[in-house]
Amino acid sequence: MKNINWSELGFGYFKTDYNVRCEYKDGKWGELYATEDVNMNIHMASTCLHYGQEVFEGLKAFRGADGKVRLFRVEENAKRMINSGEYLKMAVPSVELFTKACIEAVKLNADYIPPYGSGASLYLRPMLIGVGPQVGVKPSADYLFAVFVTPVGPYYKDGFNCIKVIIDYDHDRAAPKGTGHVKVGGNYAASLDSGEIAHQKGFASVIFLDPATKQYIDECSAANFFGIRDGKYITPDSHSVLPSITNKSLRQIAEDLGLKVEQRKVGVEELPTFSEAGCCGTAAVISPIGSVYDPKTDKTIVYGDGKTAGPWSQKLYKTLQGIQYGEIEDKHNWNTIVDVK
Ligand SMILES: Cc1ncc(COP(=O)(O)O)c(C=O)c1O
Repeated sequence: MKNINWSELGFGYFKTDYNVRCEYKDGKWGELYATEDVNMNIHMASTCLHYGQEVFEGLKAFRGADGKVRLFRVEENAKRMINSGEYLKMAVPSVELFTKACIEAVKLNADYIPPYGSGASLYLRPMLIGVGPQVGVKPSADYLFAVFVTPVGPYYKDGFNCIKVIIDYDHDRAAPKGTGHVKVGGNYAASLDSGEIAHQKGFASVIFLDPATKQYIDECSAANFFGIRDGKYITPDSHSVLPSITNKSLRQIAEDLGLKVEQRKVGVEELPTFSEAGCCGTAAVISPIGSVYDPKTDKTIVYGDGKTAGPWSQKLYKTLQGIQYGEIEDKHNWNTIVDVK
């Protein structure tokens, strides 16, 4: 294992030894290969550079209490990349190719998988780009699929931190019938201005609303939204929300723990009725929301004392992390054990 100060790592790029790649040429995928090269030599007229033919994924591998390395729900990420790529008319890797590439990337960089107990984990970034030259707006004929990994630090060094969020009435990350449901680079480009303005105002995240009516909650920056009320886990159903794998897992865990799950339109006016609210995603699992500022009413909704995560958020978080670290039985078969030396 590398000599890295694991607990000091943030959520940023940290160079590892290898990445794995596979190229789609002449109508078929080639062999998966590993490289130490962090650069990609692509044509200047590549469709990924001009027409946004770029999709990506994010998932994590964890070193468990028993020393085993677990990759969390890799097939779900594979399926989501396939959906994203197909929507952009790209050639896509199969679930098998995607999974194999992720496992290889973890194995080849095993020295960078943080130790159990450090709170850190190995983040995997699978990516798929159109690399064939086009000048007209058309899909590429050639594609490059790659997976790189980077160790990332613990999100919470001293327990949960509640975040302050702001409702964004001025930006949409995606159009009503656009690309919000798929993980394409363009959605993130469209969210940058919103994020920067929110940060300048002292908010960690924004709540995007449904772009058609601005009456319903979509999601929180790069995470899904959930609220807890009267024994229910409530989360938005919207075409412009990315189907989060963390949210899918939390819905199952919520049910296992005895909560009723509702996935439906969630009106902005419901925000003050929740006893707890949170953002969920691979990076932090759950970021509990301490308060929501509504610029329309100039009012702030505070959950609990605004600083401490509510009991359900804590339970959901601990259960999901426990499964990822091999401390709690993986009864839904979510983990893939990676055989690292
Ligand atoms: C826009 C958006 N929503 C939600 C999520 C959470 O998804 P997941 O739980 O699969 O990480 C992400 C992160 O991938 C995201 O970028």
